[in-house]
Amino acid sequence: MKLLVTGGAGFIGANFIFHMLDAHPDDEIVCLDALTYAGNLETLEPAADNPNFTFVKADVADREAVYGIFEKEKPDVVVNFAAESHVDRSIEDPGVFLRTNIIGTQVLMDACNKFGISRFHQVGTDEVYGDLPLDRPDLFFTEETPITASSPYSASKASADLLAMAYHRTYGLPVTISRCSNNYGPYQFPEKLIPLMIANALADKELPVYGTGENVRDWLYVEDHCRAIDMILQNGRVGEVYNIGGHNEKNNLQVVKIILEKLGKPESLIRFVTDRKGHDLRYAIDPAKIHAELGWLPETKFEDGIRKTIDWYLDNKPWWENIISGEYRDYYEKMYANR
Ligand code: NAD
Ligand code: DAU
Repeated sequence: MKLLVTGGAGFIGANFIFHMLDAHPDDEIVCLDALTYAGNLETLEPAADNPNFTFVKADVADREAVYGIFEKEKPDVVVNFAAESHVDRSIEDPGVFLRTNIIGTQVLMDACNKFGISRFHQVGTDEVYGDLPLDRPDLFFTEETPITASSPYSASKASADLLAMAYHRTYGLPVTISRCSNNYGPYQFPEKLIPLMIANALADKELPVYGTGENVRDWLYVEDHCRAIDMILQNGRVGEVYNIGGHNEKNNLQVVKIILEKLGKPESLIRFVTDRKGHDLRYAIDPAKIHAELGWLPETKFEDGIRKTIDWYLDNKPWWENIISGEYRDYYEKMYANR
């Protein structure tokens, strides 16, 4: 089987490629990535010498380039991770989110229709369900929760999901969609909460917590997400949505304090800053469907996952120090200087 993995030079896509090369050594993987600020070829170094792995630099919204790749590679399965993924950036500049996340998905699905594939898997997010109130811990997102969106990012991801379902119904494209909660683990770009807090704490810099720090996220170790997508590709039902989440809710302040404690740094580094616009209060996934149908359950407890993640950032300083010295420095200044 040949898989085309888009966005594979980013955080989850790269972890997914490593998982698949390991779990299915006979499969071939072609990674298509535009190498935006969030994509990094260094991340894919562990796969570089694998004869079943190839990389091609292309933009998912570039129809000519995408069709050319399909014509040459003839993939059986497409897994679409390629996206602009950071909510804060989408608030500053929504345009590129609509282009990559919506038009890019459309172009990929048109290519699938034109050249033929056995599966198109759209990697979605729980953010398409909006948010839940903090005082109703009994409520969870199920696959039937109505789609809504708080940020340009989540609106673009919701649009892509709707488009994928429309392509399934209208053209019979064999689509599956997964909607996952917040991932953490190796190779996550340091603009996201956990790696940002690790990097700042190690540098004894302030840790910017938005609002009161009470917003809740449902944290899942990235390998558990990759295993879930693998299971959906093997046995998931076409035309279905699968929620993926770990029943591991923590508010942001709790997460930040755990990181400080593990690194032996003082809580005085925490600084409460102006809240994110439209900030979602709580995400919480009900993963009953993927558990019942495919037998998936998360395997990594937060206690172990956060330890492994912190150790990875400690052991791989060149990877992220390189990133935070480039374009990211300007971004950080703009985002946090007068907050
Ligand atoms: P990321 O930002 O780390 O990586 C995105 C990758 O996509 C990068 O390699 C980037 O170069 C590439 N890319 C961006 N625009 C492109 C384009 N036009 N053409 C080709 N490649 C392009 O993102 P991530 O955190 O790994 O997220 C991957 C996917 O998973 C996204 O679709 C995201 O919405 C979804 N998701 C993420 C999380 C999370 O917690 N990070 C949770 C649920 C779902
Ligand atoms: O739920 C899945 C989503 O999780 C994915 O679809 C997104 O791609 C991914 O980026 C993530 O979105 P969040 O907005 O939840 O993640 P982020 O790491 O940006 O923020 C997590 C929480 O931490 C959120 O409540 C905002 C807060 N935060 C974030 C940053 C960067 C802070 O308090 N301070 C910060 O500096």
